[in-house]
Amino acid sequence: MLILGIETSCDDTAAAVVEDGYRVLSSVVSSQDSVHARYGGVVPELASRRHIEEIIPVVAEALKRAGLELKDIEGISVTQGPGLVGSILVGLSFAKSVSYVRGLPLTGVNHIEAHAHAAFLREGEAFREAPEFPFVALIVSGGHTTLLLLEDYTRYRVLGQTIDDAAGEAFDKVAKLLGLGYPGGAVIDRLAKEGNPLYVEFTRPYMAKGNLDFSFSGIKTAVRNFVGGFKEATPEDSIKDLAASFQEAVVDVLVNKALRALRASGASDLVAAGGVACNSRLRTKLQEAAQKEGVRLFIPPPYFCSDNGAMVAALGFHRLRKGMVASLDLNARPTSDF
Ligand code: KG4
Ligand code: ZN
Repeated sequence: MLILGIETSCDDTAAAVVEDGYRVLSSVVSSQDSVHARYGGVVPELASRRHIEEIIPVVAEALKRAGLELKDIEGISVTQGPGLVGSILVGLSFAKSVSYVRGLPLTGVNHIEAHAHAAFLREGEAFREAPEFPFVALIVSGGHTTLLLLEDYTRYRVLGQTIDDAAGEAFDKVAKLLGLGYPGGAVIDRLAKEGNPLYVEFTRPYMAKGNLDFSFSGIKTAVRNFVGGFKEATPEDSIKDLAASFQEAVVDVLVNKALRALRASGASDLVAAGGVACNSRLRTKLQEAAQKEGVRLFIPPPYFCSDNGAMVAALGFHRLRKGMVASLDLNARPTSDF
């Protein structure tokens, strides 16, 4: 079954064609980083306007790269939340229109659940292991930091989530106050490689026994206070050390809580996805921890960790197979499980 996946929940316009929930025939992402960089964060109104301009060319390109036409597509899957309401509206309206005109079944998916389905995506490999249910998914990005337990292809439970900033948001805000530009996660990752993670031992927040929630606003404030201690601009070496110390604190918490979630749920497979799962230190520390604990770890390649349409199509395939079809009623939410 060929599914067209559409993702416009934040600042990337993305579309993909995926066969049978895993085989990626194409995946196109149009980034808006250049639109938002000068504001140091995503400006919702600018994001939705850009989605309107990009959605048709991005979908056309996804079909072209897959060597297909719209008439070959058998179902449409679209992100229906969570995300920026204006951005989601663009993808959702587009998907509903195509579904109506072409008579194609439509399903609306949860963006965070879709991130976990990136672990099933394959690009022409003969065989690669896939996670087995139930498994824990650590979804870390600019908008969310969530621990999910996936019980099957269409059922999940939230085990924990951030009570304030998302991990990626903390990376972006710390990068901004260190003058490193936007988005800052990848820059901090790079600079931290040359920095000393023991330069400042930031408190690892929210570590009380049994707690699976996260809080990152305290570390961000701690970095701000530390930088405020310099009389003039932060010296370059200190920026690298601060980047490494901040990153180490965030990564420690993420790894620790992911292991806790595995123990609490009895699952033995772990998926990490979302833009922050591109972080090299997080990838290394998760790998070390997984090896030590006998856990099977699945981290998709970086381009499937950050927002994309393929993960949306993968999840949509299973929903459509189960008859979880959306209503086209303009006043109805497409499905009822959010
Ligand atoms: O999943 P994503 O593309 O979009 C959202 O749904 O938010 O994630 C974007 C986030 C940004 O906050 C970005 O700074 C962060 O992922 N990010 C990273 C790295 N690459 C991207 N954070 C830490 N280290 C990285 N290498
Ligand atoms: Zn995301």
